[in-house]
Amino acid sequence: MAQTQLNMETRFGADSALVEGISGIVLEAGEIMNQAHVERAEIVAKEGHKNFVTKYDTAVQSFLEEKLSALHPEAHFFAEEDAEHDTAMLEKGDVFVIDPIDGTSNFMKGFFPSTISVGMFRDGVPYLGVILVPASGDLFRAVRGCGSWRGEERIHTAENSLGDSIAVFGTSVYYGDEIIHKALRTAEFYVKRCIDVRRTGCASYDICMVACGAAGIFAEPVLQIWDFSAAAVILEEAGGKITDFEGKPLTFRGASTIVAASAGVLKEDYLPVV
Ligand code: IPD
Ligand code: CA
Ligand code: CA
Repeated sequence: MAQTQLNMETRFGADSALVEGISGIVLEAGEIMNQAHVERAEIVAKEGHKNFVTKYDTAVQSFLEEKLSALHPEAHFFAEEDAEHDTAMLEKGDVFVIDPIDGTSNFMKGFFPSTISVGMFRDGVPYLGVILVPASGDLFRAVRGCGSWRGEERIHTAENSLGDSIAVFGTSVYYGDEIIHKALRTAEFYVKRCIDVRRTGCASYDICMVACGAAGIFAEPVLQIWDFSAAAVILEEAGGKITDFEGKPLTFRGASTIVAASAGVLKEDYLPVV
């Protein structure tokens, strides 16, 4: 018991209290999603193909911004449902990078999973990640240098080869036919080399599945900063690596191709050739 309390207090180093504060707020925001009844009239189309926003995406984002600014008054915000996205603000200090509902089409339809994804940059680089799956209560957390956690359990990526792994892919469905074909070619690339492929509809969850060893690799041809920043910290602290399709480090300053790989597949030629 004493040991558990010690871990709770020190697990995330000097920022343990901040992480526990963020986690409490994210858990409260999860209740907004768990109690939601999405009506058709409340769904609005955004720019792009099949890209929707519900009143719950904006409600969760407003709730997070209000509570997180009370918790950490010096922090700034970079969130998906903002009217504008100025990446220059990511350069300095603490900036929360928020996807209020990742997997909105799943959420609209009652299809598992969706997450709340809260990352925080510190002086220009992703520093921590808190990702909650409200429907199951699954909570993934990491701070640079402090390991990656799923609930109370330390997590690590799998050591399996590509051939002995499940691959997850995203369809990047908002960006038109050419990108969709690239996504499906990516799926074909991995289905021939892995046990099988999966498509969950929630990129942050997909990357967490690589972080905890359930999947060996995740790839998607277009993702945005709020889709992958929190998950990137959780993956890397679990021993994985996140890059673009060419294996180059991410800039975290705009949309990118994304490959999230486990320690096992990193020993092979794992990047998609599409
Ligand atoms: C989307 C989901 C989906 C991925 C899309 C993302 P949203 O996020 O993560 O899995 O394929 O590229 O944009 O729009 O539901 O927040
Ligand atoms: Ca998203
Ligand atoms: Ca979203």
